[in-house]
Amino acid sequence: MYKIVIRGGHKLRGEVRVSGAKNAALPILASSLLAAGRSTYRNVPDLGDVVTMKKLLRQLGAKVEGDGSTTVDSTHITNFEAPYELVKTMRASALVLGPLVGRYGQARVSLPGGCAIGARPIDQHLKGLAAMGARIELEHGLVNARAKRLHGATIVFDMVTVTGTENLMMAAALAKGCTTLENAACEPEVEEMARVLNKMGARIRGAGTTLITIEGVDELHPLDHAVIPDRVEAGTLMVAAAVTRGNVLVKDCLPEHLDAVIAKLQAAGVEVTVEGDAVRVLGRREIRPADIATRPYPGFPTDMQAQFMVLMAQARGQSVLSENIFENRFMHVPELRRMGADIVVEGHTAIVRGPTKFKGAKVMATDLRASACLVLAGLAAEGTTEVLRVYHLDRGYEHLERKLRGLGADVRRVKGEL
Ligand code: EPU
Repeated sequence: MYKIVIRGGHKLRGEVRVSGAKNAALPILASSLLAAGRSTYRNVPDLGDVVTMKKLLRQLGAKVEGDGSTTVDSTHITNFEAPYELVKTMRASALVLGPLVGRYGQARVSLPGGCAIGARPIDQHLKGLAAMGARIELEHGLVNARAKRLHGATIVFDMVTVTGTENLMMAAALAKGCTTLENAACEPEVEEMARVLNKMGARIRGAGTTLITIEGVDELHPLDHAVIPDRVEAGTLMVAAAVTRGNVLVKDCLPEHLDAVIAKLQAAGVEVTVEGDAVRVLGRREIRPADIATRPYPGFPTDMQAQFMVLMAQARGQSVLSENIFENRFMHVPELRRMGADIVVEGHTAIVRGPTKFKGAKVMATDLRASACLVLAGLAAEGTTEVLRVYHLDRGYEHLERKLRGLGADVRRVKGEL
């Protein structure tokens, strides 16, 4: 088991490149199941969840090769089950449900249990498949979905769900007739999914808005595609520059996906300038408080809430952070408190009072974005911080400590305790 050891207090300086988006790569890899033949995906990030998705595809019978440039040949799918062992480590495993039922008329996917950040059921995915004609049964903790051929349907989501929208777009791509998804997620990763499916021969309109229509086709074909940059990694690096009062050019990102994050950095007094497909972040000494409420895109992303809390703790005055997407996404708060932050949680709201001068400590990562937040606090802290359970970080960031070292941070990965 590794830990990350950070000696804080170095201002980050220089340029850093953003990797491919985890939350785009996962559904894209799953969509390879929709077509016979070999697809090539470029700019696929080398991180834990991608490794898990590749393992799942191999178990289903796909031939998967390569890392940054990954090929998947889904010609001979022989197994239709996403087992508990994989779903429990990565809930996005449920993304194979739509393509398997859509192309093969059958799928068995372990029902995800609760996870660290919330209950996260998949009832909306199942409701949509049922509306398209799938028979859904629950047996021994597995969802068993079957259909001769799915048919088009009108589906209104009860809440905005990112992977739910992606799963049903994939299922509907090969259904007979037209499917309408209302109250659909507008996230850039959903738009990217539609772009990929359309390149495969699907007929999808409206992705990126709340109303998506999918005209089913009989067959899809493989493709060659480069995954969009990771907006959460970009945002994390931007906050890292701000909390260390650094000067960093975050390159190869899509700044238009970062509007909400950039607006809040600017509200906090951080200087942010967009330079083509790069963003320069210049940290100012005085940080201003700012209130944040997480919302579906284009609102402020829940995946950036924990990292922003570090910046808010440095602000002079009180900031209020409301988490509206997941019910249990404040597990970093007790750890930040151990590093000196003054944060009180009341229900889904955290009240942050600053300015805090973080002090290094031994802290425990509890989930992916919480672990990024602790690394950022460590970079800003006086003294040494040890972040334990870094496997959470490795699920979603490609070589984060190497990138931070390239910017002048004193960060090492060492073999350590649990
Ligand atoms: N929900 C339901 N029923 C459903 C689906 C969702 O009640 O059938 C609820 C969830 O419990 C949650 C809310 O709806 O409270 C939103 O969940 P959503 O389905 O949108 O989340 P997700 O698709 O499982 C994706 C990202 C998450 C990101 C969320 C929100 C992927 C692989 N994961 O999850 O990313 O936080 O959307 O934007 O795309 C991360 O990268 O750290 C991460 C957790």
